[in-house]
Amino acid sequence: MTLYDAAKIRISRRSYDGRALTESDAQILCETVGRLNKESGLCMRLCVGEGNAFKKLRNTYGMFSGVNNYIILAGKDSVDTVEKLGYYGEKAALTAVSMGMGTCFVGATFDKSVAKEFLSDGEAMYGVVTVGYISDESVKEKFIRGAIRMKKRTVRDVVEVTGDAPVWFWDGVESALLAPSARNLFPTVFNWNNGTVTASVPDKYMYQRMDLGIAKLHFELAVEGDWEFSNNGRFFKHV
Ligand SMILES: Cc1cc2nc3c(=O)[nH]c(=O)nc-3n(C[C@H](O)[C@H](O)[C@H](O)COP(=O)(O)O)c2cc1C
Repeated sequence: MTLYDAAKIRISRRSYDGRALTESDAQILCETVGRLNKESGLCMRLCVGEGNAFKKLRNTYGMFSGVNNYIILAGKDSVDTVEKLGYYGEKAALTAVSMGMGTCFVGATFDKSVAKEFLSDGEAMYGVVTVGYISDESVKEKFIRGAIRMKKRTVRDVVEVTGDAPVWFWDGVESALLAPSARNLFPTVFNWNNGTVTASVPDKYMYQRMDLGIAKLHFELAVEGDWEFSNNGRFFKHV
């Protein structure tokens, strides 16, 4: 399964069956995270067999169960790091989805003090992505997704277009709309200005930058090309 295929079937999963990752699945995920760190300069970390960050009701509000593994989203303390963590964290998450696992970006509802123990000096943590084996979506999960899901944004809600945008631009935006975003608010706007593509967020709170990075990756899964990392960064389509 390609990452694009994984993006089409992905939903956030919060109930895991608690089975330990097989050695080979853990190794593939670990290598993926290592490769993405090398490419990006980030310091994401795969924690396997660690569920303590999701044990206390006070932190999780009972939204998660069976969490045994997660990827810590960490890097140097900077706003560009947050966007990159969205982009590369979603690459890691979709790799797990392509292997049949469930994932969920988590910025708030976990015990940060537990996960922080795994960091080294100079590394800042901006959240985690849970990963693990799943079965069919439980009633509780459906309920939580329903409660968070506000009115789904449409293509027209998330674009600003000057001139005639080609089909590939719309394909990219459709793909981006499948991306997860904090509280499902999807703050990213894709701009077509007579041949130049940019993506931006209002920058009202930190997680919008993470949402921006995730949305850019999803756009790129549908349209081969390269993004500049920055708010209002440009997209260069491969020819
Ligand atoms: C940056 C970010 C932070 C998130 N933080 C949380 C969180 O703290 N708790 C949680 O249950 N879900 C969290 N989510 C998951 C979103 O609620 C979810 O992606 C959104 O509701 C859309 O649903 P979907 O992923 O099933 O399409 C987060 C997602 C993102 C991208």
